Amino acid sequence: MTTRILSPLTLVSGGSRGLGLGISEVLLGRGESVVAFSRRPSEDTDRLAKQYGGRFHFLTGDLADVPALQKLVKTVERDIGPITGLVNNAGMTFEQLLVLQPEEAIHRVLDVNLTGTLMLTREVTKHMMVRRFGRIVTISSVTGIRGYKGTAPYSAVKAGLLGMTRALARELGGRNITVNAVCPGYMETDMVHDMNPKQLKQIVRRTPLGRPGQVEDVSGVVAFLLSDDARFVSGQTLTVDGGLTC
Ligand SMILES: NC(=O)c1ccc[n+]([C@@H]2O[C@H](COP(=O)([O-])OP(=O)(O)OC[C@H]3O[C@@H](n4cnc5c(N)ncnc54)[C@H](OP(=O)(O)O)[C@@H]3O)[C@@H](O)[C@H]2O)c1
Repeated sequence: MTTRILSPLTLVSGGSRGLGLGISEVLLGRGESVVAFSRRPSEDTDRLAKQYGGRFHFLTGDLADVPALQKLVKTVERDIGPITGLVNNAGMTFEQLLVLQPEEAIHRVLDVNLTGTLMLTREVTKHMMVRRFGRIVTISSVTGIRGYKGTAPYSAVKAGLLGMTRALARELGGRNITVNAVCPGYMETDMVHDMNPKQLKQIVRRTPLGRPGQVEDVSGVVAFLLSDDARFVSGQTLTVDGGLTC
């Protein structure tokens, strides 16, 4: 039985680089449409716009700016098409022992990663509920399920997103909307550029698969959760970390 009635259009937050870009490329590669947004475009978003023409759109938007998010979702629905999938991927971190973290840095991590994601999900969900169809995938992290030094606000946010996922799966299931989360382990992207090599070696040593993760290790799992094959999967967290947390 197929439940998808609309042509797939997925909104990807933070689609300009890293995992968000990788997810966009997998969806485009299988013939679907993507709207990616972040604070600024990249060479890769320009490339995708040229390569995929009308199937790829990039918009600028800051996850911490709620009125701008509301406008962005309205614009997509009005000018591009009905959003069938949402990938809450955009994120940032500030790593430091909690006692040394400035108050503004803590607020920023919460505002972007948690409040921004909740607000974006709320805006998109309004439309999905009316159409009785939707797929929501939120990128959390292994830090949301295990403790790592220096990541208290980020870990709090990532654990919070798992709570959001479970609550929304219950709220939205009756409208044929699935809500799932993916917890990547370490992936080689800009976000972890500054990680010290000693720390990276330690992660790799503790990973049964014996290597750091790549964007491609995670993007296909997200694409699966957005696909019709995952139509009966909801409220779940898939950890994609090479076995690090097993
Ligand atoms: N890399 C890892 O090891 C790892 C592990 C576990 C989980 N994750 C999670 O995976 C997701 C993607 O991370 P990544 O590694 O791909 O990071 P990344 O390479 O740093 O990319 C982050 C993306 O988010 C966008 N972004 C950041 N702040 C934003 C804001 N305020 N508003 C809108 N967009 C914003 C960035 O674009 P702009 O800067 O142009 O806005 C960029 O497109 C995040 O949720 C992260 O927490 C990453």
